[in-house]
Amino acid sequence: MKVLDFKDKINEDEMKECCKSLAEGNLVIFPTETVYGIGADSTNEEAVKKIFIAKGRASDNPLIVHIADFENLEDYVYPPNEIEKKLLSFMPGPITVILKKKAIIPNNVSANLDSVGIRMPSNPIARKLIKEFGRPIAAPSANLSGKPSGTNIEDIYDEFNGKVAYIIDGGPTNIGLESTVVKVIDEIPVILRPGKITPNEIKEKCGNVKLSDNLFKPAVGPVESPGMKYRHYAPKTKCILIYSNDNNKLITEINKNIIGNTCIIGCQENKNKFNNLKYFSYGSKTDLKEISHNIFSLLRKVDCEEADLIIIEGVKKEDLGLAIMNRLIRTCEFNYIEC
Ligand code: TXA
Ligand code: MG
Repeated sequence: MKVLDFKDKINEDEMKECCKSLAEGNLVIFPTETVYGIGADSTNEEAVKKIFIAKGRASDNPLIVHIADFENLEDYVYPPNEIEKKLLSFMPGPITVILKKKAIIPNNVSANLDSVGIRMPSNPIARKLIKEFGRPIAAPSANLSGKPSGTNIEDIYDEFNGKVAYIIDGGPTNIGLESTVVKVIDEIPVILRPGKITPNEIKEKCGNVKLSDNLFKPAVGPVESPGMKYRHYAPKTKCILIYSNDNNKLITEINKNIIGNTCIIGCQENKNKFNNLKYFSYGSKTDLKEISHNIFSLLRKVDCEEADLIIIEGVKKEDLGLAIMNRLIRTCEFNYIEC
């Protein structure tokens, strides 16, 4: 396994080595603007199998396929309809659009569904890797199944040490939360996973938008997106998510829930309210971008404290806050108090 440092500059020869290795059926960890991905040749069933093994991922949870441009898209999926085309116009960027797949994409990529998630990242390292490789790259987030997604190499190195051929270090990812996943159902874009591209932005472009019923509750029975069923973004330590739009109520509720050795993850503004506890700030409550950038790495860090409990302050479920809360409610395994 080799770690390549592309933080300041892409090394052309090393990029070629990565592409050769992908063509030989090996795995490469690479940065995107959302989170790191663990990638394989999306047309090679055996290579894709290795991703599921490396992550310990359930085989009924499909992978996203990453493209560099729209040039050969219709080799892999059937032509998009007008609404799907509008969604594709958000690319390159943090959105995944579910389209009907062609047979060249093996069934283990799509977990036997007839559709596949298509995403064109804007990160220049990811774009160049896919372009030079010449075929789409299947890649889920780079983390062991169930853990918070990897947003920098230091956090995930031990999880994948020796399991992949190359790790490309592009520094911390910009957004920090995974892409918005959207599927057009009965002519309406349905958000299966919220992200940086918000419902309002989608509504503006497409005229309509719906949120999946499962964004804030455990999935039971058949779901539109298999990923919703699984424990996700969760540290080892038990966590509770607490939200109130009244800060005094929030502080009171947090105090009520403190037990033994409790750590708190919350906004910078509330840090001095908990002077006798270990308090980890995710940034200012007015800066959702900063919170999304920090949250996964912070969860991993606080998990190392071996606390009895982590209490996490929630944010308003609006704009990027919708995506932050969708992840945190799973971090807390639906252990959520709104007051
Ligand atoms: O930002 C991202 O999307 C990152 C970077 C690496 O691109 N990738 C990522 O992949 O988050 P992953 O595998 O961790 O999450 C993919 C989500 C899962 O919840 C999966 O169930 C859903 O997308 N998904 C994939 N293909 C699908 C399909 N055909 N139909 C419905 N949901 C699908
Ligand atoms: Mg994931």
